[in-house]
Amino acid sequence: MTMTFAASARRIAEAKSLAPGGVNSNFRLGISPTPLVVERGEGPYLFDADGNRLIDYYLGMGPMILGHNPRPVIDAIKAQLESGILFAAQTEIEYEAATLVKRLVPCAERVRFSCSGSEAVQAAIRLARAATGRPTIVKFEGHYHGWLDNVVWSVAPQASEMGERDAPAHVPGSNGQDPNAGATLDIVVWNDLDRLATRLRRGDVAGVIMEPIMCNTSVIAPKPGYLDGVRKLCSETGTVLIFDEVITGFRVAAGGAQALLGVTPDLAVYGKAIANGMPVSAVAGRADIMDLMVTGKVMHGGTYNAHPLCMAATAATLNSLLDGSIYARIEARGRRLMEGFERILRDRQIAGRVQGLPGIFHVSLGRREPIGDYRDQLATDKAAYVRLTTALLTNGVRALERGAWFLSDAHDDATVDATLAAFDRAVVAARP
Ligand SMILES: Cc1ncc(COP(=O)(O)O)c(C=O)c1O
Repeated sequence: MTMTFAASARRIAEAKSLAPGGVNSNFRLGISPTPLVVERGEGPYLFDADGNRLIDYYLGMGPMILGHNPRPVIDAIKAQLESGILFAAQTEIEYEAATLVKRLVPCAERVRFSCSGSEAVQAAIRLARAATGRPTIVKFEGHYHGWLDNVVWSVAPQASEMGERDAPAHVPGSNGQDPNAGATLDIVVWNDLDRLATRLRRGDVAGVIMEPIMCNTSVIAPKPGYLDGVRKLCSETGTVLIFDEVITGFRVAAGGAQALLGVTPDLAVYGKAIANGMPVSAVAGRADIMDLMVTGKVMHGGTYNAHPLCMAATAATLNSLLDGSIYARIEARGRRLMEGFERILRDRQIAGRVQGLPGIFHVSLGRREPIGDYRDQLATDKAAYVRLTTALLTNGVRALERGAWFLSDAHDDATVDATLAAFDRAVVAARP
């Protein structure tokens, strides 16, 4: 049965008089055939305004590691709600959540909670500058660290504007962005130790921020030895190493990419899967740096930081991840999906690439070779991939048009089977 989305399209059109574009995040615009209006979620499914039941691989853009509506998280939020909503004081539940983060995350000697990944990134950058007394932050082409003026540079630059590999241009991510906000930011290509070494040895860099696995571009793994090399370079040059684990955290392993890959940063930023969909983020890291929030006049605030309902969700989510069994299940089902997609592409003689990890992987069309950096993925056929996700949607599978696939513990073998069948039908419809 082919699904249609007329009710979503109608509501979005009507809602344009309420919110620009009828949506509340620009990442929800420009979706083919229409941004969706959703009524409810359950396990691996979303139920939309047209009455469709869709297998969901957006998972709220990554957070729903336990699936939609997992009982332990719902019950914990409800129980906390009975005790009140917000106190501007400390609660035992926030200490429980912090204890769990410390237990799971190698670098986490201290933790501070806030509400969005974008905010926690700002705290980490401020700490790095305060700890070193230096101005500059190095970020990498194709990495995303939130929507704010000082970091939304060269996230998805066009080939024509991105400059040379040795000196990538500063490409702003938004009109209206403060042009001076990039003045203390340097852009470097990722996965290239020599280029980074040259930059860090100038001695003016406060912090290096990176996605330790480049999830926002094609889910690219660091080259063997790269993260170790960066760690060493940062230690030698007195530079604060910040891992942005907003996607990888609690998703690729209970301790995030740093635990999976065995490289410990000075600071790390978390969000998304930390609370299975409630708005929680965290900055965590070395005690001497984190304590600058108290001893070093580093300002960190937020009315809603460590919100009790969110902390209840955090503790319930992290408790569900503790024994690690969820990762074995996600690994098995994610592998089946990745291998299944590869087989279908091969059988149908369609050039494509599946890469990444079972809990977060990436599919692209038009190129078979590995995608090793931001510049490689410019050669993929994005229009064909949008045709594929559009065809998938009409076959009951909701996957991101940017190519990423997020898995949850609720995606069981039956869901995987249904997804593979839908992919086989959709890829034919979308043949480049
Ligand atoms: C790696 C990374 N860092 C930071 C952010 C920003 O987080 P938020 O959208 O919660 O502000 C995102 C969001 O997708 C992200 O993927």
